[in-house]
Amino acid sequence: MTYYKIEKNIGKIMIKSNNNEIKKTMKIGLIGFGKTGKAVASVILQNKEYSLEWVLRKSIKLENRNVSEFLGIQSDETGLIYSSSKIEINELLDKHPVDVIIDFSSNTGIYLYGKPASDRKIKIISAISHYGENEKKLLKELSTNTVVFWSPNITLGVNYLIFAAKLLKKLAPNVDIEVIEQHYKGKDGVSGTATKIAKALDLGDSEINSIRVGGIVGKHEIVFGFPHQTVRLIHESISREAFGNGVLFVVENLVNKSEGLYKFEEILMQHFKE
Ligand SMILES: NC(=O)c1ccc[n+]([C@@H]2O[C@H](COP(=O)([O-])OP(=O)(O)OC[C@H]3O[C@@H](n4cnc5c(N)ncnc54)[C@H](OP(=O)(O)O)[C@@H]3O)[C@@H](O)[C@H]2O)c1
Repeated sequence: MTYYKIEKNIGKIMIKSNNNEIKKTMKIGLIGFGKTGKAVASVILQNKEYSLEWVLRKSIKLENRNVSEFLGIQSDETGLIYSSSKIEINELLDKHPVDVIIDFSSNTGIYLYGKPASDRKIKIISAISHYGENEKKLLKELSTNTVVFWSPNITLGVNYLIFAAKLLKKLAPNVDIEVIEQHYKGKDGVSGTATKIAKALDLGDSEINSIRVGGIVGKHEIVFGFPHQTVRLIHESISREAFGNGVLFVVENLVNKSEGLYKFEEILMQHFKE
């Protein structure tokens, strides 16, 4: 007979059976199965505590294929790929309920699932880089009923970089600062992360320098120019799986939160207080 017990490990709660099998404690739905969504799905599938119940995308490409099978990941998870043009979101949520929705689609995705998720108290983690004022307002509204998290950069590394840069600026408020962001050829617009860094350091768009070459996943550098020395803080994403690891960090840190709108800084700062 299999029975489960609760085990605490470095602040994390796991439910393990007498055969040491870990019971999946969190059901996740993923919106967006493009360049980043695929990498994020593969990280979730390799995590033993959370299960990926489904993936939703716009087109009918790969419809009804098993996610783990398509990504070539050995897993007993049965989550399928669905198309938003073929299944209504409420039907998907009724048939395959989830605790968290993770959004790596586009700035229109929130209109598809935001209200139904909030009504069902499903936590929302949005990684969309650019939202307009209407979408930001909608996130705020949804957060009155459920936990909503939004970060234009969801890697632990970049958020730590911003934290360190703010500290340095506090020590030397008059230093020259420029941001250099490098991405793969063809990436549209200024990186949302660079804009976030600039905003955190009270810089304008003119202090952001963008380079688009080859296949760079993402590199952000903050240059602090002192009269006789230069300090550089650099973060480099080696692969898109970094976004998946960031997502899992966020999921873990939102477990006991009550409804409200959360930013990365808030969940990062709580670790410096502990
Ligand atoms: N916060 C972060 O750290 C971070 C990191 C990387 C990327 N991002 C952001 O994540 C988003 C996706 O990036 P990407 O590079 O993966 O883009 P991508 O390759 O173009 O993929 C976008 C995916 O979203 C789906 N999609 C778009 N709009 C949709 C909608 N309204 N309903 C359902 N599915 C929709 C697309 O479906 P089809 O495949 O069917 O067309 C596609 O699978 C962008 O906003 C990007 O800026 C954020």
